[in-house]
Amino acid sequence: MPELLEVKDLKTQFFTRDGVVRAVDGVSFELAAGETLGIVGESGCGKSVTALSLMRLIPQPPGKITQGSIMFDGQDVLKMDDDEVRGIRGNNIAMIFQDPMTSLNPVLTISRQITEALELHLKMDRAEARKRTVELLELVNIPSAKKRLDDYPHQFSGGMRQRVMIAMALSCNPKLILADEPTTALDVTIQAQILDLLKNLAREFRTAFILITHDLGVVAGMTQRIHVMYGGKIVEKADTNELFANPKMPYTWGLLRSIPRLDENRKAKLLPIEGLPPDLIAPPPGCRFEPRCQYRRDICREKEPELIGIPNAKADHEARCWGTQAGGWLVDSDWHRDVGDLAALDAIKAEVADLPPDVKRVEAADDDKKKGN
Ligand SMILES: Nc1ncnc2c1ncn2[C@@H]1O[C@H](COP(=O)(O)OP(=O)(O)OP(=O)(O)O)[C@@H](O)[C@H]1O
Ligand code: SF4
Ligand SMILES: [Mg+2]
Repeated sequence: MPELLEVKDLKTQFFTRDGVVRAVDGVSFELAAGETLGIVGESGCGKSVTALSLMRLIPQPPGKITQGSIMFDGQDVLKMDDDEVRGIRGNNIAMIFQDPMTSLNPVLTISRQITEALELHLKMDRAEARKRTVELLELVNIPSAKKRLDDYPHQFSGGMRQRVMIAMALSCNPKLILADEPTTALDVTIQAQILDLLKNLAREFRTAFILITHDLGVVAGMTQRIHVMYGGKIVEKADTNELFANPKMPYTWGLLRSIPRLDENRKAKLLPIEGLPPDLIAPPPGCRFEPRCQYRRDICREKEPELIGIPNAKADHEARCWGTQAGGWLVDSDWHRDVGDLAALDAIKAEVADLPPDVKRVEAADDDKKKGN
C-alpha cells in the first residue's frame, strides 16, 4: 500500500543570534492511510517543529527546512507553491493545537469559522455549510449545537473549545489530522473525554492521525505506532504493543518511569529523568542522551548511534542506542528493573490491548451520529 505520508531525512533549523538551533535533525518516518501514530518526547525535543514542518508552517526567518523531503499523497510538500500548500492545509491535513484560543478567531462566531472552511474548500453555499456545521458540532458532542452556532469562542469552556477545534479539523474530511498536545491544557476528566472522542472519530472517519504528546501514557490507548523523539531525532520506533512490552532505549525506559499516575494523583510524576535535554545549538557529538544515561560507555560519547533494527525485538522495531544493538551490553538487560514495578503500566497495557490490531480492520464506532451522509 502506498504511504500517505513519507518524511525523509527532514532537517528544520532556526537561525538565531546564539547560533543554529537544530530543532529537527534528520527525521524519517512513514504513515499509511488511516494509520495512527504517536510522537512522544520531553519538552523541546522537536515534536511541534516536526508537525509544523509537515504543514510548512515554520516561521521563516528565523526558521528554515534545510533538508529532506515530505511526500504527502504522492506530492512533494516542500516543492509546492504557496497556493498549493494552502490547499493542503485544512483540506487534506488538519491540525489541532494545545490551546484552541490561539487557533480560533476570537472575533468570529463559531459557525462563521467552520462555514468559511466549508465554503472555501468544499465549495458549499452558506445554507449547506451552516447545516453541515450543526452536524459537525453534534458529532463532537456540543450540547444544543444549533443554538450555539452564533456564539463566540470565549463563550465556550476550554473542553468545549477543543471540541469545536476537532469539528473544524474534521470539517473538510482531511486525510491526516495532526493533534499537538490537544489535551494538555485541560483537566484530567475532560482530557480523557476529548481523547476518547478523537480516537473514536479517527476510527469512524478512517483518518490517519498523528498525536503529539510528552506523556507516553496518553498515546498508549490512542495510536498503533509510537515514535520516541529526543534532541531533534527519533530514538525509538515501534508498534505500541511492542514499545510497552519490549522498550529498547534507555530514554524510553526513563519516559515509562515518568508517566504520570493514572489514579487520583496523575500530576505527581513517578520519577522524572534526571538532567536536562541537550542544547540543540551544540548537541553532544555522540548519543544525545549520553550525559543523562546511566548505562553509557565511552563509545556513546564518541560516536552517534544509528536508528536501526535490534536483536530480541520485532522486525520493524528500531532504536538508536549502542547498548541495545547487536553485541551491545544492554541486549539482554531487564528493563523492568529500570522502570520499576509500575502499577500504571498494567493499566496502560490494558488500554493498549484495546487498540485495533490492523488499520484495515478498524471498526466504525458504534455511534448513531454518523458522518452525515
Ligand atoms: N521560532 C523559534 N526560534 C528559535 N528556536 C525555536 C523556535 N521554535 C522552536 N525552536 C526550538 O526548537 C526546538 C524544538 O522545539 P519544539 O517546539 O518542536 O519542541 P516540542 O517537542 O514541541 O516541545 P513542547 O513539548 O514544549 O511543546 C526547541 O529547542 C525550541 O527552542
Ligand atoms: S547509546 Fe549509550 S548513552 Fe545512548 S542511550 Fe544507549 S547506552 Fe545510553
Ligand atoms: Mg510542542
